[in-house]
Amino acid sequence: MSLVTLQDKEGHSMKVLSSNGHLFHSVALPISYDEHLENVSDLEVRHDDVLFCAYPKSGTHWLWEVTNMVMNGRAEYSKDRNDVGMLDFIHRDNIDGLSSPRILNTHFRPCHLPEQVVDKKPKVILVVRHPKDIAVSYYNMVTGKKDAANNTVDKLKPQDSYEGKWKHFLDMFLEGKVPYGSWFDYIESWDTIMRENPDLPVHIVKFEDMKKDPAEQVKKLASFLGSDIGPQTCEEIADACSFHKLKKACHGTKDMLCAISWKAGGGLFRKGKVGEWKNWFDDAQNDQFDRVYNKKLSQLSYLNRYQM
Ligand code: A3P
Repeated sequence: MSLVTLQDKEGHSMKVLSSNGHLFHSVALPISYDEHLENVSDLEVRHDDVLFCAYPKSGTHWLWEVTNMVMNGRAEYSKDRNDVGMLDFIHRDNIDGLSSPRILNTHFRPCHLPEQVVDKKPKVILVVRHPKDIAVSYYNMVTGKKDAANNTVDKLKPQDSYEGKWKHFLDMFLEGKVPYGSWFDYIESWDTIMRENPDLPVHIVKFEDMKKDPAEQVKKLASFLGSDIGPQTCEEIADACSFHKLKKACHGTKDMLCAISWKAGGGLFRKGKVGEWKNWFDDAQNDQFDRVYNKKLSQLSYLNRYQM
């Protein structure tokens, strides 16, 4: 495990943690990250755990809030930050101490999940989003963060803020040189675990479907979770978690999610739109992206391919 610097073509860099070829956000923990990964791997999974998985910038915080409301049966914002059960950096003892049913939230790929997942088969929610919008959102996140010196939230964390240009970030994204590595590999690894474990209950939530008909998606999620909330509550949850309401509700508290501190104008709730990538990609970048997409994800068994 080491802290490595990823450099773009002009020498602008991001700091990430690297372990056995996998890249992670540069969090500072009281134990080594390798030890933390081992702890997560050995974690005792409960049958009623809900494993909440998403590649960064897929709508994690939005869907976590929705899931939490569904599990509590009412449209009431959580008092907790969504990283309360985050496998990526919350100490195992604290995860063990959470009362059931727990939402175990993570950006990890399946290979870093607790080993018991495939035997105990907890319900899994996988949030997916169009990768071009993810790339744009990711760029805005890494350039919107304060660097370590200005980070007043948690000085222990060497931040992975980035000062480079969009076009160079896009190259890094396509090469998987970003925290949590390649989005393409992430999707492929989920497709593989679903193919190899067809009885693992995985519910896929698409960011775009949530934007189109949030109440319907909340209903589907509730049904997957075995919740008995009615259509009225589903509507209320969808409404409470709409972009502007959630942004307002989280302002000043949960906007510091994951201890990120933002430059002026930056923040977790940025635009919340579908298809914003069209304002960022030029034709050549679009072709470049499609080539990588088609090469890396030509065949998926369980996850639908996105229309590029
Ligand atoms: P944009 O940067 O495109 O605006 P994550 O939580 O995984 O980091 O994802 C962040 C993305 O989800 C951001 O996308 C953010 O604006 C968007 N988002 C957060 N809450 C949302 C909501 N209620 N509705 C739509 N998008 C939301």
